[in-house]
Amino acid sequence: ARLVVLVSGSGTNLQAILDAVAADPEGFGARVVAVGADRSGIAGLERADRAGLPTFVCRVKDHASRDDWDRALADATAAYAPDLVVSAGFMKIVGKEFLARFGGRVVNTHPALLPSFPGAHGVRDALAYGAKVTGCTVHFVDDGVDTGPIIAQRAIGIRDADDEAALHERIKDVERALLVEVVGRLARNGYRIEGRKVVFP
Ligand code: GRF
Repeated sequence: ARLVVLVSGSGTNLQAILDAVAADPEGFGARVVAVGADRSGIAGLERADRAGLPTFVCRVKDHASRDDWDRALADATAAYAPDLVVSAGFMKIVGKEFLARFGGRVVNTHPALLPSFPGAHGVRDALAYGAKVTGCTVHFVDDGVDTGPIIAQRAIGIRDADDEAALHERIKDVERALLVEVVGRLARNGYRIEGRKVVFP
């Protein structure tokens, strides 16, 4: 399967996928064909460059409207004919056009146990709430914010001494493993989305 991975920051989830492909090019069942971002100058794009991958940057401020940006992102992504789009730390909400083109094939990873703590500050919000357990969720993207059908989740304990950075790092350790496992499985086995359920054959 052909993967386009979208990033906005350090790209360690992207790197986990790249490492999994490199470790087992045949067996993993997918390869990254391009990396897209909503901003330039981020480590995620440097990781793509080091892997010799094509990259593209779609910045909201370069477009007259949010819809124009969404269409440009969809066009740039479509140029690589992905089977799956993986939003790995991509910090923008894709819109109608993008979902019209790739709906049901866009996977997102979120650093909280959805439906708890959706949005851009899931780690901070769980900590502030005083939750004792949090974790990560890999889900399909729908037209909401972090509301699509859940594919897999992994839980970790929150420690009294945790601050946002420490907790997020511990979440990312399990998140990267979960994302690689899910992406490989979707690519190798195929899947069906039935309402809010993701069914594997
Ligand atoms: C991940 O925890 C992702 O869930 C969240 O931001 C982080 C991105 O990390 N949205 P990286 O860019 O993959 O290192």
